[in-house]
Amino acid sequence: MPSPFIQVDKVSKKYGEGVYALKEISLSIKKGETFGIIGLSGAGKSTLIRILAGLITPTKGRVLFSGEDIGQFNKKDLRSFHFKCGMIFQHFNLLNSRTVFNNIAYPLEIANYPKEKIAPRVNELLQLVGLSSKKNAHPSALSGGEKQRVGIARALAHHPEVLFCDEATSALDPKTTQEILTLLRDLNQKLGVTIVLITHEMDVIKHICHQVAVLENGVIIESGPVAQVFAEPKHPTTQKFLQNTVHEIPDHFYKQPSPTHMLVRLSFKGESAGKPVISQMIREFNVDANILLGWIDNLQTNIVGTLVIEIQGKEENLQKALTYLHSNKIHCEVIQK
Ligand SMILES: Nc1ncnc2c1ncn2[C@@H]1O[C@H](COP(=O)(O)OP(=O)(O)OP(=O)(O)O)[C@@H](O)[C@H]1O
Ligand SMILES: [Mg+2]
Repeated sequence: MPSPFIQVDKVSKKYGEGVYALKEISLSIKKGETFGIIGLSGAGKSTLIRILAGLITPTKGRVLFSGEDIGQFNKKDLRSFHFKCGMIFQHFNLLNSRTVFNNIAYPLEIANYPKEKIAPRVNELLQLVGLSSKKNAHPSALSGGEKQRVGIARALAHHPEVLFCDEATSALDPKTTQEILTLLRDLNQKLGVTIVLITHEMDVIKHICHQVAVLENGVIIESGPVAQVFAEPKHPTTQKFLQNTVHEIPDHFYKQPSPTHMLVRLSFKGESAGKPVISQMIREFNVDANILLGWIDNLQTNIVGTLVIEIQGKEENLQKALTYLHSNKIHCEVIQK
C-alpha cells in the first residue's frame, strides 16, 4: 500500500512550561483530498497546521511528508519542502504597499524565479483566481473576498503540492465565504492540490472537505469521511457543531423535557433512505410522530438526508421506537436544548 501523503504520528506540542496544546495527534491525509480540521477557539488548530507546514516543531511525535520525516530535514530539504507548501491566512497578510500583481509576484521574486517568467506566471494565477481586472489595484481598494483571492494566488505561485488554510474564510461574509470555498474546491479538482483547512464552522467542512477531524482541547475526538461524520456524529461536541450548521433548529421546537415526548434528529444515507421506517414505527409501537424539519445535505462525496421529528407516546414505547430506528441503521440522536 502506498504511504499516505501526510502522516501525523503521535504529535504533541507544549509551549514553554505551559500545558499541552496538542496531545498525541495521529492522522493521515491522502494526496489530492481536502482534509478539514474543526475545533473551537483554543482547540489547537493553528498549532497543528503550523506543525504540518513545518513552521514550528512538535515537542513529541513526527510528521511524515511523502514518507519523509520533516523533523529530520536539513536546511536545504526544509527549503524545498516549504516550496511544496502554500499557506493562506484569515487576515490575508498582504503587502499594502504593493499592487495585487506585485503581491503575487513577491514569493517568486524572493525565490529568484527567472525574471522573464514572473509576469506570465502572475497573469496565469490572476486568471486562475478570477482577478485579472484588479491586477494594478492596491489591497486597500479590494473587498475581503478579493484580498483572499490574492492570498490564494500568492500561495499557489510555486505550484505547491499542498495548500494549508488557516481559517481562510473566517473574516468573510457568508456569500463571499461560499465563493472562496467554491474557488478552493475548483482548484483542488483542477490542479489536484491537496488542501488542509482548519475552521470552526461545519458549513465550511460540508462545502469542500472529503475528510474531517474534530479537535477538542488538543485531542482528536472524532474523524472520518465527511458524509459519515455528518450522518452519524458520535461525540457530543461533533453533534453540537452540526447543530450550528445552516439548518439551525428553531428554539420553539424545544419543549419542556417529558418522559412521553422527545425531539429526535434522524439521518439517512444510502440504503436506509428507501424504507418506510417512520410509518412502521408509528404502527408498531403506537406512537405519534410529527415531522418538524427536513433537509438534504449535498456533501462532496455523498448525500445525507435529515429529519427532525417529535415522537409522542408511552415512555416504554418511545424507547422501543428508538431501538427500532437504531436497528434499521438510521442514526438517531435525541436532541434537547
Ligand atoms: N506561541 C504560543 N505560546 C504559548 N501558547 C500558545 C502559543 N500559541 C498557541 N498557544 C496556546 O495553545 C493553545 C492552542 O492554540 P491555537 O492557536 O493552536 O488554537 P486554535 O484552535 O487555532 O484557536 P483559534 O480558533 O482561536 O485560532 C491555546 O491554549 C493557546 O493559548
Ligand atoms: Mg487559530
